[in-house]
Amino acid sequence: MRIIIGSDHAGYPMKERVKVHLQNRGVQVEDVGTHSEESVDYTDIGKKVASKVSDGTFDRGILICGTGLGMSMVANRFRGVRAALANDLFSAIMSRRHNDSNILVMGGRLIGDTLALQVVDTWLETPFEGGRHQRRLEKMDVG
Ligand code: RB5
Repeated sequence: MRIIIGSDHAGYPMKERVKVHLQNRGVQVEDVGTHSEESVDYTDIGKKVASKVSDGTFDRGILICGTGLGMSMVANRFRGVRAALANDLFSAIMSRRHNDSNILVMGGRLIGDTLALQVVDTWLETPFEGGRHQRRLEKMDVG
């Protein structure tokens, strides 16, 4: 699985933890920044990640900002992107089972690193159920 990850300054410490965690699991991760806690616009990083999931360069993406809200809004503007804001395990599970989410978004100022790593693992391991949920996904894209 090819994973692309990005954060703004507010999500930077958590992004580093998640990246190392994935690398320790043997997952290849492309990190598009940011690379420090200096202030940057979440929109720029969100676009970098979402565009590469939208065009199929990467299978999955992970985005982290302060709340996860801004990154979710940006990412979901890209065709084919189903970005799920999941700051808890149940949201992470259901976003995979029912929504086939392809970008996980978390809030670095909302949850701790331990929970974040559990959310990431759960999100990666939970399969999409398909069936009636596939029909619903196909109705998502407009315009
Ligand atoms: C940055 O201060 C903050 O606005 C950003 O990380 C994010 O929470 C936006 O939704």
